[in-house]
Amino acid sequence: MSTHPTARRRITLTALAEQKAARRPIVMVTAYDYPSAQIAEAAGVDIVLVGDSGAMTVLGYDSTVPISVDEMLVLTAAVRRGLSTPLLIADLPFGSYEVSDQQAVATAQRFVKATGCDAVKIERGGTTVDRARAIVDAGIPVMGHVGLTPQTAVAIGGYRSQGRTADDALAVCRSALALQDAGCFAVVFEAIPGDVTETVMPRLRIPVIGIGAGGATDGQVLVFHDLLGIYDGRPAKFVKRYADLRSAMVDGVSAYADEVRSRAYPQPEHGYAMDAGEAARFRELLDRELLDEL
Ligand code: KIV
Repeated sequence: MSTHPTARRRITLTALAEQKAARRPIVMVTAYDYPSAQIAEAAGVDIVLVGDSGAMTVLGYDSTVPISVDEMLVLTAAVRRGLSTPLLIADLPFGSYEVSDQQAVATAQRFVKATGCDAVKIERGGTTVDRARAIVDAGIPVMGHVGLTPQTAVAIGGYRSQGRTADDALAVCRSALALQDAGCFAVVFEAIPGDVTETVMPRLRIPVIGIGAGGATDGQVLVFHDLLGIYDGRPAKFVKRYADLRSAMVDGVSAYADEVRSRAYPQPEHGYAMDAGEAARFRELLDRELLDEL
């Protein structure tokens, strides 16, 4: 049963900072279209991310790398139409922000103008820190993302947890702190040991949203299709399934297919009736027309 209050105010960056201060966990979920946005809204989540994970979950690519700006814009605009309360963040796709500050600002502005998203998310530390600062300076809120960064998975050794040696953990922490200093309003920690998260949390003033980063973060994020069991891939270790919608959907479509084949569907109640007199006249008119053609 849902426990969120019925009349909710729009979630702002200030509201998120207050949630962190009050140690009230922040709930974030991904969405990629109008119905998933409406579901997130009804469930009362705090943040909705149009993740570039949509490349895999809804567009069928085998990684997040190929998704284009135009494809992300379509997904984000659809989510915007289904959402009013949660903060809406759009992932800037791979290749759309790394080249220069100008490129990063132009892409972020395009997302805000075309979709009405509230903020953007970009991955990694390193040069991304400068891009984050440039976008923030242009007046657009930025969420950072460290640890496992799927856009550059090949370069970091694949889809595997990060920060498992002291040196690697230090590198992840440095990136998070640099993104905080650059003005990011929040940061995602993906697939890093809980010990690393716990150690660095006291140094972070901004909300930290975890996915496979233990329980010490200020909030959690999961991919919509993973948590609802819609996506047919092998889930990552950190995924918890709260429903098995794929089975329910396959069962529903199979039952429909069976009834079409057995002519059990449609029944009279699924169709439209015609007045008996009109039906008789229609038959008469058609007969007359066919006779005229002879
Ligand atoms: O693309 C995505 O869904 C993400 C989340 C997993 C944080 O980046």
